[in-house]
Amino acid sequence: MLRWIKGVSLINIKTNLKILVFSLLLLTLFSNCTSVNLKERRIENFYQNWKFHLGDLNDAEHYGFDDSDWRTLNLPHDWSIEGVFSKENPATPGGGALPGGIGWYRKTFTVPESRKDKLIFIDFDGIYENSEVWINEHYLGKRPYGYSSFRYELTPYLNYGENENVIAVKVDNSHQPNSRWYSGSGIYRNVHLVHTNKILVDHWGTFITTPQINEKSAEINIKTDIRKKSDGEKKITLKTLIYDACGRKIGIVSSEVILKDSVTTIEQKSKVALPKLWSIENPHLYKAVSEIEHEGKILDDYQTTFGIRYFNFDSEKGFSLNGKPIKIKGVCNHHDLGCLGTAVNTRAIERQLEILKEMGCNGIRTSHNPPAPELLDLCDQMGFIVMDEAFDVWEIGKTKFDYHLAFEKWHKKDLEALVKRDRNHPSVFIWSIGNEVMEQCDKEDSSGSVLAKKLALIVKNLDPTRPVTSACNGTEPSNPVIRSGALDLIGYNYSHEKYPEIPKIYPGKAFIAAETNSALATRGSYDMPSDSIRRWPPRWDLPLVDGNPDYTCSSYDNCSTPWGTTNEETWKIVKKYDFISGMFIWTGFDYLGEPTPYDWPARSSYFGIMDLAGFPKNGFYFYQSEWTDKPVLHVFPHWNWKEGSIIDVWTYTNYDEVELFLNGNSLGKKQKTEDDYQLVWRLTDTTPGTIRAIATKEGEKPLIKEIKTAGEPARITLEVDRNRIHADGKDLSFVTVKVVDEKGTLVPHADNLINFDIQGEGFIAGVDNGSQTSHEPFKANYRKAFNGMCLVVVQAKENCGKISLSATSEGLEPASVNIAVK
Ligand code: GAL
Repeated sequence: MLRWIKGVSLINIKTNLKILVFSLLLLTLFSNCTSVNLKERRIENFYQNWKFHLGDLNDAEHYGFDDSDWRTLNLPHDWSIEGVFSKENPATPGGGALPGGIGWYRKTFTVPESRKDKLIFIDFDGIYENSEVWINEHYLGKRPYGYSSFRYELTPYLNYGENENVIAVKVDNSHQPNSRWYSGSGIYRNVHLVHTNKILVDHWGTFITTPQINEKSAEINIKTDIRKKSDGEKKITLKTLIYDACGRKIGIVSSEVILKDSVTTIEQKSKVALPKLWSIENPHLYKAVSEIEHEGKILDDYQTTFGIRYFNFDSEKGFSLNGKPIKIKGVCNHHDLGCLGTAVNTRAIERQLEILKEMGCNGIRTSHNPPAPELLDLCDQMGFIVMDEAFDVWEIGKTKFDYHLAFEKWHKKDLEALVKRDRNHPSVFIWSIGNEVMEQCDKEDSSGSVLAKKLALIVKNLDPTRPVTSACNGTEPSNPVIRSGALDLIGYNYSHEKYPEIPKIYPGKAFIAAETNSALATRGSYDMPSDSIRRWPPRWDLPLVDGNPDYTCSSYDNCSTPWGTTNEETWKIVKKYDFISGMFIWTGFDYLGEPTPYDWPARSSYFGIMDLAGFPKNGFYFYQSEWTDKPVLHVFPHWNWKEGSIIDVWTYTNYDEVELFLNGNSLGKKQKTEDDYQLVWRLTDTTPGTIRAIATKEGEKPLIKEIKTAGEPARITLEVDRNRIHADGKDLSFVTVKVVDEKGTLVPHADNLINFDIQGEGFIAGVDNGSQTSHEPFKANYRKAFNGMCLVVVQAKENCGKISLSATSEGLEPASVNIAVK
């Protein structure tokens, strides 16, 4: 009896477990906002097995060209990041000091006979720059701007069945400098083939808005552009189905239309009951599927992700989302992903956003160009407020070969492409038509206001729901861009001392601090005394006369450009005034290029709150203590100092009080007040040992942090950010490498050369250490530690299995780690 009962209960447990696992699986599938399956439209990944040749060739667009000795690779691809640093490279250190040049890509593919009656398009998310594309020798066109997404139709030139097709792409990034930062070179974003019928939802052909929202329901307006590529009139039904985040159909609206022209716009209205609003904390997403039906057959289905939210920029109260006041605590970022270059990788972008979220950041400015679509998808999913920016220059250039050369002919097309592509993203809240454009400095205003009005109108015609701004650096109303009256939102960079005057100067106008800070720091580097602020370089147009001989900047919050501020200086004032909608700090992450305040041998920026490898500098904890409610206690610097030094010990905390101890002796308590952003102890006793900080807050458990004097480098440690990654050929594990002493304490200035060996189903995608002056290659299986740390980025292959990574270094105990590839 007992046995029987036991047996039954065991079976039950097993069955229940199975049900539980299955339900969990379903739950994860659906709670992740799964895409609704498309039945008719086919979106084919087109990234594999491209051929690549670096250098120009005369006839590589020819069908029969022999590319058999070209390198085979998968896209996205950035050839500059594979190059060698040199100050002679035409990009200059400002552009990252890596090579540009001309590159060719070719891909051979077949299209089955069964697709003969379909339309086939190729969608490029971005090619840097001056791309030209041929299909089977037929020239499809040129796209100068390296940040625009664009489409070509291939249908009329395709071969079907066993006859092969050849797509050839020439990329010309040889005319440099064409950028003030590292641009990367090549087909650095994703590529898709899109297969449709002859009646289809046009490219970026939907626009979904939510004009009326209350607790009970939200009105959904859907505009759909339908393209007809067949003769005669066609009667169709456009059905728009609305799905919630769990994939449940919650609405349907249907319209019968006779298509006469090549493009017909159809407007529909629907309602969502009890809408779940998109917010930073709960970025709830909906999907609309547009189905075109003709005589009972579905001709196309097209998916649009959207969110339901309302917002306001107020001249007195600042920004609010869904009625709740929110300060935009944002960062500006360029698009490179450190050692991966600009080659888009979704996990690498996601990691950056995770680090920023952890810091309390809630906004991204896509400085100074249209971003990769993956960034906006992630911002939609993770809850970031995006300022989507179009240009760094208009007609007047900043570098010899930049976009000013293409502006006149291309600005309309490029700006329209940005707005049409991005206007359904709930994370996008602001359009920026330019950054510090030179036209604003022209006192005569020969073109500034005219262009500002023209660009704002292009945006408004496509999206009247979001404000337009421009990141100005002339703060006066006489600035042609501001004077134009085209800006809904006054946006200017720096000049934080003028913020208090804004309500008087611009009555009734909302304001955003479009760019702030430009604070400078090298991770792990400290200049005393910590309360004297270095403004480097003395002026932007003067050569460097100051600075450190080792090209470092102190990472106490005591170094900034003269036009910028420390972290404390700007945040203090942004926090004080409600009318300031928010700020975008220059920058979240260090980026390649613009090594202000230095020139060569420096080749990457010092502005990041994180270094180029993504390791937080101290500023990360400054913001975390101000921007989050999680318990924060951070203590710095390290505790390896020469006898006789005078050292300032800083703590960042959001607790009330901190007591500091050196080797068990109390150095006193300090209380945090509204005006204290850090608590500082000046120590003349630098006896090796342990600095211990204890932070207390009423009703909370104390927080304790210790900094210990490190001994000699003894061993390596490896920490993976994820020990299980997807076998999709793209997923990454970021492995932090530390040089520690015998007891496991990080050795603060260790620069040991670490060699990596990787076995199994992965490869090394890049290595870095966050140093702004290292000229070691990013694509390598070795890296010197910088201030005790370096990074190795491991990428999955496409087979399941295991990756074993080991790290060795002369004189150090090695380390190894396993990563599962599923
Ligand atoms: C700003 C500019 C940024 C960057 C920054 C460096 O004026 O908009 O692109 O150059 O300065 O401080």
